[in-house]
Amino acid sequence: MIAMSVDNPIEEIKEKIDIVQVIGSYIEVKPAGRNFKARCPFHGEKTPSFMISADRQTWHCFGSCNEGGDVFSFLMKYENIEFYEALKILAEKAGVELKKLSPEDQKQFGILYDINDAVKEFYKLELNRNPKVAEYIKTRGLTEDTVKEFELGFAPQSWDAATIYLTNKGFKAPDIERAGINFRTERGTYVDRFRGRIMFPIANNTGKVVGFTARILPEFDKGDSGKYINSPETPIFNKSRVLYGYNKAKNHIREMQFALLVEGQMDVLMCVQDGLKNAVATSGTALTADHLKTLRKQTENVMFSFDNDEAGQKAAERSIDLAKSLDFNVKILSLGEYKDPADAIKAKPGIMVEYAKKAKEAMEFYFERYLSHGESFKNDPAKFRKNLHIVLEKIKALLSAVEREHWLNQLAQKVNVSEHILKEDMEHAEVAVPLAVRPKQEEVTLQEVEEEKMRIDLIADRVLKMALVREDLLKELEEYAKYLPRQYRRIYDTAMDKSVVSDLRLLDELHTFTLRAGMEVGEVDPEKTIKEFKELMFQLRNKALKEKLEIITRAIRQAEHKRDKEKEEHYLKLFDEVSKLLQNEK
Ligand code: UTP
Ligand code: MN
Repeated sequence: MIAMSVDNPIEEIKEKIDIVQVIGSYIEVKPAGRNFKARCPFHGEKTPSFMISADRQTWHCFGSCNEGGDVFSFLMKYENIEFYEALKILAEKAGVELKKLSPEDQKQFGILYDINDAVKEFYKLELNRNPKVAEYIKTRGLTEDTVKEFELGFAPQSWDAATIYLTNKGFKAPDIERAGINFRTERGTYVDRFRGRIMFPIANNTGKVVGFTARILPEFDKGDSGKYINSPETPIFNKSRVLYGYNKAKNHIREMQFALLVEGQMDVLMCVQDGLKNAVATSGTALTADHLKTLRKQTENVMFSFDNDEAGQKAAERSIDLAKSLDFNVKILSLGEYKDPADAIKAKPGIMVEYAKKAKEAMEFYFERYLSHGESFKNDPAKFRKNLHIVLEKIKALLSAVEREHWLNQLAQKVNVSEHILKEDMEHAEVAVPLAVRPKQEEVTLQEVEEEKMRIDLIADRVLKMALVREDLLKELEEYAKYLPRQYRRIYDTAMDKSVVSDLRLLDELHTFTLRAGMEVGEVDPEKTIKEFKELMFQLRNKALKEKLEIITRAIRQAEHKRDKEKEEHYLKLFDEVSKLLQNEK
C-alpha cells in the first residue's frame, strides 16, 4: 500500500492508455507514417493538421490552433472540462481505481499550485539579489510598488537554479516538470525552463499562481528564443481561459463598468500604474470566447487597445468581431503616435486615461479603417465597393436590430449613399462570423509561406520530410545530405544521431519537424513515394551543383579581373569538375 501512494496516478493512467485510441474514440484518426493525423476538432478544417505522436503520447494542431498537449489536455479541451473530470474519465478507461486516486490525487493537483507559489518566491528573491535587473525594470517605467504588487521576479541565467531551489524545498523533479517550471532532457536530466528572464506570475481567477510569462533580459537575448515565453499548458494553467491581471482587475472592471484589453504584460502593468486598474491581457494567445466569458461576469463593455501596427489592428478586428458576436459593447482606444500602451504611458503619464475618454465605437473604427481613403476611392471605385461591402458585413453581423439600424444610418451619411440601398446590399452580404467560430478557411497560410521559400528549400524540405516519415529513406539520403541547405542539414544530422545530441532545441526542432512531416507526407503510396524521393534527391543535387557553378563562375570572373592566372586556372578546373558531376546524371 505504501508503494502505491508513491505512485503517480496520472503517469499510471498515461502508461495504461494509448492517446491514439482515446482521441480515436472521439474523432476519426488516420495513420500517417509513424504518427497519426486527424481533422482538428478545435477548429473547423478540411485538411487534417491535427497530429498525434504515438511515441511521445502527445498531440499538436499545426493549423490555426497551433496548440498541443497530452491526453489529459485533449480531453479537457474536447469536453471543455477541468482536469479532475478528465482524470475521472481516463482513470475509468485505464482501469485505474478511483479510490486509489484519492486523496493522493488531491495532492497531485494541489502540488502544482504549491510549486508555482514556491518558485514565485524564489524568483522574487532572485530579483532582490540582482539590482541590475531591478534597474532594467525601472527603466521600463515600472515603479517599485507595481513590481511588489504584481510580484515580479527574476529567473537567473542558470540551467537548474529553480529546480535545485524547489528540490531543496522538498518537491520532486517530475512534479516540478508537471508544473512547467523545468523540463526533462532525453538523458533524463532536468533543465529550468526559464533562464535569464523577468518573471510575471499569472494568477487564476481565485488569485493562485498557475503559470508565468517570462521576458528575456536584454543582455541575455541572443535572438534564438522568444522575447516572451509562457508556462506550458498544465493541469492548472489554461492559456485560452486565463487573463493576465484579471484577479486584481475584476473589482475595478465592475466599478468602472468596462474592461480594458491590451496585448502585453507590460501594457497591463503600466496601465494599472497609470490609473486604469481595469486592464487585462491574454498571455501569448489570441483572445478567445472563454476569455470574454470570464469578463462577462463583470461587465458587458470592453475596450481594446492593441498595438499600433498592422498586426495589432488585425488582432483588434478579430477581437471586435468575436466580442460583437457575444454581444459585448466594444470600444477601440486609439494610441495616436505611440507603439503600445506601455510606450504611451512611459512617454506621457496620464495619457491613456485621456485616450480612453476618446475611445471610439467599434463600428466607427471600421468606418475609419475601411472607408477613410477619401480621394483614393475616386480613382478606385472597385476598392470602395469592396470596403463598403466589408463594413456592411460587419453591420449585418450585429445582434441587435436597433444597432444595425443605427449604424446603417451613420454609414449612409458617411458615404453619401441612401440608407435603403445600403440595406438592400446588406441583405446580400454574408454575415461576418468571427474566426474563432468560423470553420477555418483552409490552410492557405502554410502553402503561402512555403511558396515564398526558395525552390531548393522546398525540395530539401520535402525530401527530408519523406525521409523522416520512412526511416529507410533516411539512410538513402546520406549521400545527398551535403546538398541540404544548412537548416535542413541540421535537422538531418540530429535525426541520424539523436542519441548523442545534447542540444534540447535541436531535438525539439526535430520532433516538431517530424510530426509535421507525418502530416504532410503521411499518406502517399509507397511506390510513388520512392519515385518522388529519388527524383527530388536528384533535383536537390542538381540545384546545389548549379548554385555551386554560379559561385565558381563569379570567382573566375574575379580572378580574371585581378589578372590572377593561378586562381583563374584553379577555378576553371573546379568548374569542369562540377559540370561533369552535373552531366553524369543525365
Ligand atoms: P510585444 O512584442 O508587443 O511585446 O508582445 P511588448 O509588450 O511590446 O514587449 P516589450 O515592451 O518589448 O517588453 C505583446 C505580448 O505578446 C506576447 C506577450 O504576452 C507580450 O507581452 N508575446 C510576445 C509572446 O507570448 N511571445 C513573444 O515572443 C512575443
Ligand atoms: Mn507591444
